[in-house]
Amino acid sequence: MGLNIVFLGPPGVGKGTQARLLAKRLGIPHLATGDLFREEIKNGSELGRKAKEYLDQGRLVPDEVTVAMVREKLQGAEYGEGVILDGFPRNLEQAAALDGILAERGGALRTVILVNASPQVVVQRLSGRRVCRAAGHNYHLQNNPPRAEGRCDIDGSELYQRDDDRPEVIQQRIQVYTETTSPLVEYYRRRGILIEIDGERPIPEIQERILEALAVAVNDYPKIQI
Ligand code: AP5
Repeated sequence: MGLNIVFLGPPGVGKGTQARLLAKRLGIPHLATGDLFREEIKNGSELGRKAKEYLDQGRLVPDEVTVAMVREKLQGAEYGEGVILDGFPRNLEQAAALDGILAERGGALRTVILVNASPQVVVQRLSGRRVCRAAGHNYHLQNNPPRAEGRCDIDGSELYQRDDDRPEVIQQRIQVYTETTSPLVEYYRRRGILIEIDGERPIPEIQERILEALAVAVNDYPKIQI
């Protein structure tokens, strides 16, 4: 496997926004576990039914379900050049499982990009987020509004508010991040593969800073040029 990158950070900090931009820039596919679960829910699958109760409460879907889903996805030929993971791993057990999955394919995790912001900023971003029904394109009522109210600029589909972007679920998701996911920051820092990026900047500036940091950390990868 080629270049494997993980995006880490609190809910709503902008991981998905940055991961998609980077995926386009590097030509490496983006894989977001939250998007996979929402797709399963939309399709009414067994996995989707199981996942929905966790997503609606802002709790983590059990590791055995999540890890099996990621393992199966990463078998796909499209991930031969690597993957940009977003929302996985979310605890130390998932981190160990990821190392195993990548090793099975002769690869390893190269870099973890931590995007960080204060709790006030993430609450503001989540409360104003709107997502398109057709393809999950992201908007924000104040920070990144669509050209026509309630409609996606890209495909014209309806914009909606995610069920887990309600205030009480947002608080629960932040708590889960603090208690369960944030220990990964120290874990990856100790491994020497953590890049830390200030998420309280404008979207294009954050992307530029990510590319600059990657150019240093992954200087043998030809597609990373700034
Ligand atoms: P998931 O979908 O991964 O949610 P999350 O981690 O809470 O992250 P978000 O998608 O909410 O935010 P983001 O950081 O991607 O921000 P975005 O770019 O959208 O997971 C949902 C649920 O699925 C979990 O709660 C759990 O139940 C389950 N799940 C997922 N993975 C799992 C796992 N591994 N194990 C177990 N369960 C799992 O940006 C947010 C908003 O801010 C947008 O409106 C955007 O336009 C705006 N914005 C972005 N950047 C900026 C900026 N720089 N300035 C201003 N506005 C900005």
